[in-house]
Order: sequence, then C-alpha cells, then structure tokens
Amino acid sequence: MIVRLSEVTKTYRKGVKALDDLSYEVREGEIFGLLGPNGSGKTTSINCLLGLLKFESGTIEIFDQPMGPDRYDLKAQIGVIPQNVAVFYELTVEENIDYFCGLYVKDKQRRKKLVDEAIEFVALGDYRKVHPNKLSGGLQRRLNIACGIAHKPRLIIFDEPTVGVDPQSRNNILEGIKRLNQEGATIIYTSHYMEEVEQLCDYIIIMDKGKVIAHGNKEALKNLIMLGETIEIKVEEPNDEYLKPIRELPNVLEANFKDHTLIVKSGKGATNIPNVLAILNEHRVKYGTLYSSLPTLNDVFLELTGKGLRD
Ligand SMILES: Nc1ncnc2c1ncn2[C@@H]1O[C@H](COP(=O)(O)OP(=O)(O)O)[C@@H](O)[C@H]1O
Ligand SMILES: [Mg+2]
Repeated sequence: MIVRLSEVTKTYRKGVKALDDLSYEVREGEIFGLLGPNGSGKTTSINCLLGLLKFESGTIEIFDQPMGPDRYDLKAQIGVIPQNVAVFYELTVEENIDYFCGLYVKDKQRRKKLVDEAIEFVALGDYRKVHPNKLSGGLQRRLNIACGIAHKPRLIIFDEPTVGVDPQSRNNILEGIKRLNQEGATIIYTSHYMEEVEQLCDYIIIMDKGKVIAHGNKEALKNLIMLGETIEIKVEEPNDEYLKPIRELPNVLEANFKDHTLIVKSGKGATNIPNVLAILNEHRVKYGTLYSSLPTLNDVFLELTGKGLRD
C-alpha cells in the first residue's frame, strides 16, 4: 500500500472536526482522486499524511511504514504540488527547480539532468532564466509542478492544481499528470471539479465535512445512486397539465420546469425519452432542443448529501 490513513481525526478549533475518523488507502500505480467541496478536509488530510500537521487520533502509513514528521526517508520519495504556488520570487525558473530538487538530490550532475527533464516536462524551456513574477498564473503553476516532481518521486500529490488556470495550462497539467502516472508514479489528486476527477482518476473518494461519503471507481459511484438519466427539453409553454402525467410515468424520479426547460430525472433502466415525447405530443406542446445526460459525480454528491459540489 502506498498510503493508508486509518481513522484520522483532526480538530483545528474546538468542536469543528476538519477530519472526522477519515480512512482511505492508495494503491501503487493508481491515480487516486480526493473529490469534495471547499472546506471538506482535502488539504488537511494531505498535510496530515505528509507529517506537517499534528492530529488527535488515528494512524498514517506511507509505503507500508509509519509516517511521522521526521521520516525524511519517506518524504524524499514524495513530491508535493501545494494548492497555492510556493516558489521563490528572487530565484529564476531554473534556480527554483534546482533548489527544490536539491533538497533530495545532492549530486550536482545528476541534479542538472533532473532539472532539465523537469523543465522539459512542463514545457518551460523558453523561461529558464525568467523570474516567477514575470510568468502568467498558468506558467507559475507549471513551475510549481516542476519543483515538486524533479526528484522523480514515487508518490506525487497534486492539491487543486488547476484552480484559476487558463485552459491551455490546464490541459498541459492534466496530460502531464497522466504521463507521470504512465511512467510509474502513484498520484493523489484533489479537486472540487468533478469533471477533472472523472476524466483522470482510477479510484475516487468523495469527501464531505471531513468524512468519506462514498468511494469507488466512477462507474461504481454512479451505480450508488437512483438517478440514471436526466432529460432536458426546451418547451414553449411550461404547464402543469402535461407535467403531472410525466411525473406519473414509471421510473420518473422527478420532473420540473426551470424557466422554459423541462427537466425529467429517471431511474436506471430504459430511457424515458419516447414516453415523455409521447405526452408532449398528446398535449400539443411545442418543443425544441432535447438533451439527455447520464449521471455525473456532481449528481452522486447531490443525491448523497442534498447539496451540489460547488454550493
Ligand atoms: N489553519 C487552519 N485553522 C483553522 N481552521 C482551518 C485551518 N485550515 C483549514 N481549516 C478548516 O478545516 C476545514 C477543512 O479545510 P481544508 O482541509 O482546507 O479543506 P479543503 O482542502 O477540502 O478545501 C475547513 O472547515 C477549514 O475552515
Ligand atoms: Mg484545499
């Protein structure tokens, strides 16, 4: 096992548990997703497993060994890309990466090669001699990543690496994470963007209020909930007369209007599109665009907690 958290409880202020008996395991070679809204405890759990934060109870093992603040041997095999860019503004791009790599790699020649590889990896070759304050937000993020991965760690932790990043850097970051994983690193990826987690992660835990509320791969998570299909149809006139029979269709969980859009949520099984359209036709309702979508991880969160991931 790469990481094992068992029943970890962490309280910053009396009465507010940032982590509440939190347990999870990360297996070798996977991209492990920690998905949860802001304040659910993702960063706190990362800081606990890195030995940076004290916690009241529970145990943490990394690479099957007990983790502690002085386990530098274990820390040397971990790369961390913190939520907020943490680089030195008085150093250039190249010097920053060399500094962070130098915390673990003392041999200068080997380090030079690793720094070059990291620069190439995040495609910052044109900015070697540039200071970070001259870089855009997205490029600073990429520098932050290069600093965390240059020493070729076995476990790499990305804490919300795409927040406030332009689409081009975002794609560069997500592709880079996949590549690091293909090259053998185990990845922990935290985010409150369910689309990214869905696209990237092999195994996902959904957190809320310091607890795991669901875990599994994305298919398993979507099978936990009732929702199977959401149909959205633009209608000219919202009207209860045809809403009522739609609500009474077998397998319909709920049906509502949102302005001029009829939204019908059905359970798993055959699609309800033909039945809904039959009722619209029967009532001579004029309708336009129709979308049908499968559940997202946001729907999973919504059904399990009663609130959206970004509320
Ligand atoms: N340094 C701190 N002092 C007091 N409370 C904190 C501190 N850091 C985080 N918290 C609280 O702990 C909870 C979890 O926060 P955090 O781990 O940052 O969540 P996330 O990373 O999922 O957004 C939140 O309620 C947050 O307000
Ligand atoms: Mg956080």
